[in-house]
Amino acid sequence: MKITMINGSPKPGENNSGTLIKYLTSLINENETDVYNISKLKLSDMQFEEMKKSSALVFAFPLYVDGIPSHLLRFLMRLERMDVFDKNTMVYCIVNNGFFEGKQNHIAVSQMKNWCIAAGLTWGQAVGIGAGEMLPFLKNIPFGYGPNKNTGKAINEIANNIKTLKSGDDLFVSPNWPRFLWKMQGTRIWNMRAKKNGLRETDLYN
Ligand SMILES: Cc1cc2nc3c(=O)[nH]c(=O)nc-3n(C[C@H](O)[C@H](O)[C@H](O)COP(=O)(O)O)c2cc1C
Repeated sequence: MKITMINGSPKPGENNSGTLIKYLTSLINENETDVYNISKLKLSDMQFEEMKKSSALVFAFPLYVDGIPSHLLRFLMRLERMDVFDKNTMVYCIVNNGFFEGKQNHIAVSQMKNWCIAAGLTWGQAVGIGAGEMLPFLKNIPFGYGPNKNTGKAINEIANNIKTLKSGDDLFVSPNWPRFLWKMQGTRIWNMRAKKNGLRETDLYN
């Protein structure tokens, strides 16, 4: 069975959507899996042709302003216009966000469900993961353990549904970590990044 994974993070280099795709791929490795990073790649007609042969499309992307990043939206509109997928093609999503609660991803998930109806495809399942920016700091902790326990469990569940092309309830998870601590750590991470890019803390509020 062919599975296409779309990395919808606009970040060049490493990104959290990519980390989640890597783990998911390791769980469904008996299938043929193509991964496309749409921020780097302008997909060729041949790649779109390949995509049409997929039994499942998996979109992994970050939450941007409570919704779908704009370049992913453009990509979805292109896919929808192509009108070439079998209506039984399953759609799955993994959305990660910066705030602690994975539930924050519910609007983006609804947007994907609406797109799925518009494109005439079959909805599978979504996983919404909170505190995605924690993932680069947890590289040495396997999914399913410690702060990655809930995330690992949710990705395992969606992997099982993808493998059997089943639908499932949408899952929204937050890390197994104190929320107040993440709030402090998250603020520090964004401030450090701002500084690296020549911005002051106050500039972030603009
Ligand atoms: C322009 C922009 C908008 C964002 N909007 C939200 C948001 O509305 N809610 C949220 O929790 N995180 C938001 N984030 C944080 C990202 O969702 C978060 O950093 C995510 O982990 C990035 O994933 P990626 O590495 O796969 O791109 C935003 C980040 C950017 C750059």
